[in-house]
Amino acid sequence: MDAEISPPQVVARVKRLSEDRSTAFLELRNGSIVTCTTSGIWNLERGDIAFVDTEGGTVEFAPEELWDEEPWVGVVRLLSPGQVVIDVGGRLKILDEPLDIDLREGNTVTGYESRGITQVISEDPVRYIDLPTVDSVTVEQFKASPDRSLSFEDFGGHADIKERARELIEVPLEHREALTRIGARPIKGVLFTGLPGTGKTMLAKIIAHRADAEFYEISGPEILSKWYGQSEELIRKIFEDAATQERAIIFFDEIDSLASQRNEDSHEASRRIVGQLLSAMDGFTSDTNVVVIATTNRPQDLDGALRRPGRFDWEIDFPPPNLEDRRAILEASARRLNKAENLPHSHIAEKTANWTPAELAAIWSEAALLAVMESRDAIFEDDYVSGYERVAQYRRSTAHKSSERISGES
Ligand SMILES: Nc1ncnc2c1ncn2[C@@H]1O[C@H](COP(=O)(O)OP(=O)(O)OP(=O)(O)O)[C@@H](O)[C@H]1O
Ligand SMILES: [Mg+2]
Repeated sequence: MDAEISPPQVVARVKRLSEDRSTAFLELRNGSIVTCTTSGIWNLERGDIAFVDTEGGTVEFAPEELWDEEPWVGVVRLLSPGQVVIDVGGRLKILDEPLDIDLREGNTVTGYESRGITQVISEDPVRYIDLPTVDSVTVEQFKASPDRSLSFEDFGGHADIKERARELIEVPLEHREALTRIGARPIKGVLFTGLPGTGKTMLAKIIAHRADAEFYEISGPEILSKWYGQSEELIRKIFEDAATQERAIIFFDEIDSLASQRNEDSHEASRRIVGQLLSAMDGFTSDTNVVVIATTNRPQDLDGALRRPGRFDWEIDFPPPNLEDRRAILEASARRLNKAENLPHSHIAEKTANWTPAELAAIWSEAALLAVMESRDAIFEDDYVSGYERVAQYRRSTAHKSSERISGES
């Protein structure tokens, strides 16, 4: 049997036609574009598949299947007249509304780059099946088991912060009904600002424990990475669960990781998470006894919507501790340790200007190690001072590294 073999051709797709239809812009499989001009007009439409013979200079229709396009799957986020916004794996696309398909927000649809939306495959948003489903068991994971032994006495210094936190969180949780009777505006959100290690999480946990409140701890970066695609649902469920508790604190750590994301891909996702958080807070009823605490190192970067009345409109700053605070923190963080009498707290406090509470507390871990290595069952002055020196040494080396990094960057 004789076979007729055509010269080599490549498959291309019509990307665009010039207004007078004399020029066609064709996309090749490798993504590059070729321009084909004719003295007449091209009989092609956008999205058509064609054979292109680059040597012979011919362009002919080709069967559509030859393009073998990968379909995308996405969720309808917004319907506006004539147009649809689709979320495809966190990226938004604007497409023409199909004439023959009824769409609703939240539908899962498939489509092709060239043809737009072709089918509704589910009335509901697609789930990321490699992630666990968000149910009541998932919500349990976010409940931090309270450290029953932790009390205000463990939180050294910063009397003003403790007092303010009690006023803004503990009192409202304990006296919600009385405040409602007075007609006071409920306190829903309190922003904790301050550098890492300044005691924000610790104080929130102490208050939750004292107020006998359920404590939900959500980390901003984790919700963007681990719970990506389900984070809004997760936040909704956590708030629903909190609303059923007699008292609850929802602790949203590092909220700036959501509210100041500049990265293109995750920007949309974080915007939606913040939106869900705000709508959950706006949805508090008079029965909801929940205070949301969010922490950030960069309050200036937060989305203005978060700071509006009825949201995070109260702020407590955790500054670096002063001399007196440092002394109190050193004492408080050694409360439960076996130690000699009359340890030189004031001396160490003087030497630790600009240290964070976490760094101060670390002195005790080092001191305890030293004592154990010397077979002592209590911490003595030498252990304490050497513990201080070890943490100071560590601080110097990390400060050195980070200043190297900074000078290397410039
Ligand atoms: N006022 C304090 N008194 C005693 N210890 C403290 C105090 N503040 C912090 N610490 C110690 O520092 C540790 C770290 O504090 P915490 O985790 O609350 O800091 P944070 O502000 O939440 O930091 P990050 O921003 O990194 O989450 C605590 O576990 C505790 O050991
Ligand atoms: Mg923390």
